[in-house]
Amino acid sequence: MDASILLALRDPAGVPFYPVVFQVLYVLTWALHAAFVFLALGSMGLSLYGTFKQKSDENWKILTPHLIQTGKISISILIVLGVAPLLFTQVIYDPNWYVTNTLSGMWVFIFIYTLVLGYILYYWYYFANKKNQGGGKLIGIISFLILIFAGTLMHNFAVTSLMPNDWMNMYAPNGIVDNSGWTFNVDTVRLIFMLSLSIPVVGLFLQNYSRFLSTREDFSETFVKYTASLGTKIGVVGLIISAVAFVAWMLQVGYLLHPLSIAIVIGVVVLLFMILKNSNSYITTIVLVVVALLISAMRELIRFDIMAKLGYSIYEYPVNLEIPTIVMFLLTFLVLGGVGVAYLLTLAWKVGKNQGVFDGTKDKAVTKLGNYTLSIMVLWMVVYFGWGMTILFMNIL
Ligand code: HEM
Repeated sequence: MDASILLALRDPAGVPFYPVVFQVLYVLTWALHAAFVFLALGSMGLSLYGTFKQKSDENWKILTPHLIQTGKISISILIVLGVAPLLFTQVIYDPNWYVTNTLSGMWVFIFIYTLVLGYILYYWYYFANKKNQGGGKLIGIISFLILIFAGTLMHNFAVTSLMPNDWMNMYAPNGIVDNSGWTFNVDTVRLIFMLSLSIPVVGLFLQNYSRFLSTREDFSETFVKYTASLGTKIGVVGLIISAVAFVAWMLQVGYLLHPLSIAIVIGVVVLLFMILKNSNSYITTIVLVVVALLISAMRELIRFDIMAKLGYSIYEYPVNLEIPTIVMFLLTFLVLGGVGVAYLLTLAWKVGKNQGVFDGTKDKAVTKLGNYTLSIMVLWMVVYFGWGMTILFMNIL
């Protein structure tokens, strides 16, 4: 692939701020997206096992619906969080993203319907299990497979976008144009590694779940201990599987001895000991977040190097500074997003820790955060629409 083609595919308007900022935001937000992908697939997969045990086992009777609920919420969060890296990738790597979307156009359409169908069936599974313990097994399995397929499609887009040298051949194999949009590329080792991370993530989730419930009197000690030890077992086995898959992936792409790869391996070993010991799973979670960020950075490093070799560097993307847009974006992200998420998390934490019905209006912190969130949101809407209308009318009147 000639660098001039890649450069010609960039947005002529340039980028509104320094590319490195978009790159950092991409790494950060993809790690967040991935965290919920792994939690969704992990908790859903384990809940399916639970549906077979739930009738005869008291522990699984409690755990299974909770896992189904965790998966259900995680899917909605992963969808929301998937939008952010999507926006950043199309700002700095637009040639890659749009060529991929053209070559795999049919899969892009199919992706949306796959997600809609998979999530609807998930709700079916959730209600069937609620109505009848152990119910909805088959629908649950179908939904699980559909969601894994959605992840495989995402993987296809990521992999195709990393193959600029082959684009021409995909577009016109043997010189004959193929505009069907059915291009599909899978890198099996990379995909296995990505999906395998669901196992340690659900293991650690169980340790957190157990720790969280340990202060509640309505959950027996046997149950709390059972979930903690189950989490340890799943976490350890999962980490070993992911570590092997990671090394295989690094060997394949030739990055095994790169400092970033070594840092990830060290991170995984540290995680392994922390999960085995389970002295404070909340701290283990912080380490997991760091490792997830490193893995996200690794994905970006591989892409950056492939593109740099072809003469495309995001750092040379023409910058057309647009300070107000960036300020608005950062304020929305940090202030509205930060306060809103803090409100939801505080509320969820307190609801979970409280026995019986929790009345948020009687809680000082929750009320304060709720009021802040509402006021900031109203202010945000006024500024957003006011600003938009002003610019629109200034342009057309
Ligand atoms: C159940 C649904 C989904 C699953 C299981 C899933 C899973 C994944 C996986 C495994 C990857 C990494 C692929 C790789 O690096 O090989 C990925 C990447 C990504 N996903 Fe998702 N995803 C889902 C839905 C979404 C949605 C709805 C969006 C956007 C709204 C999204 C946006 C992204 C983006 C932007 C990337 C990075 C692509 C790139 O770097 O080229 N995902 N996803």
